[in-house]
Amino acid sequence: MTDHLTIVDHPLVQHKLSLMREKDTSTKSFRQLLREISHLLAYEVTRNLPLTTKRIETPLCEMDAPVIDGKKLALISILRAGNGLLDGILELIPAARVGFVGLYRDEATLKPVQYYFKVPSHLQDRITIVVDPMLATGNSSVAAIDLLKDAGARNIIFLCLLAAPEGVARMKEAHPDVPIVTASLDSHLNELGYIVPGLGDAGDRMFGTK
Ligand code: URA
Repeated sequence: MTDHLTIVDHPLVQHKLSLMREKDTSTKSFRQLLREISHLLAYEVTRNLPLTTKRIETPLCEMDAPVIDGKKLALISILRAGNGLLDGILELIPAARVGFVGLYRDEATLKPVQYYFKVPSHLQDRITIVVDPMLATGNSSVAAIDLLKDAGARNIIFLCLLAAPEGVARMKEAHPDVPIVTASLDSHLNELGYIVPGLGDAGDRMFGTK
């Protein structure tokens, strides 16, 4: 683990991830496991959120109770697979603001092109958590974070389920200020850009498409 990369090695995360990786795991189970794992990852990714105190009254007395400081978090899903992680995280942080970034790969230039971008206001004042289950080449993550920085985001964390060393290196080069939290650093990318051993196409597996 480095400051730039945190691997969430909690046994429950690792167990659930292994079940997700299995090729015969059904769409229904995959979705349920993703939801459960996203709660555990949300717990980890929010570990260092700043706290302040608020004066409250319990039935017994007044107290300065700890509450999260600052504006509400922004959760940004990179479409479409990011939505699987987003749903579970929102169950834990229901007041977070939510944004979406849609990118496709231009077949001629192989560069990511934006087709959708809608994000919360005042990103410069928020902690922004970007979610995408698979950090593979890193091209779409880097492009999404470029767009978010253009929109004002300064304090960004990237959360994924699986990362390839190639994607981590690309992110570290382009956005060294953005820490990555993941459940696993896998071996490598294959010639088609899939993470190995991986879990296949995360979007197809969570939505039951092919
Ligand atoms: N996207 C996926 O869904 N799976 C991979 O292995 C790589 C990128």
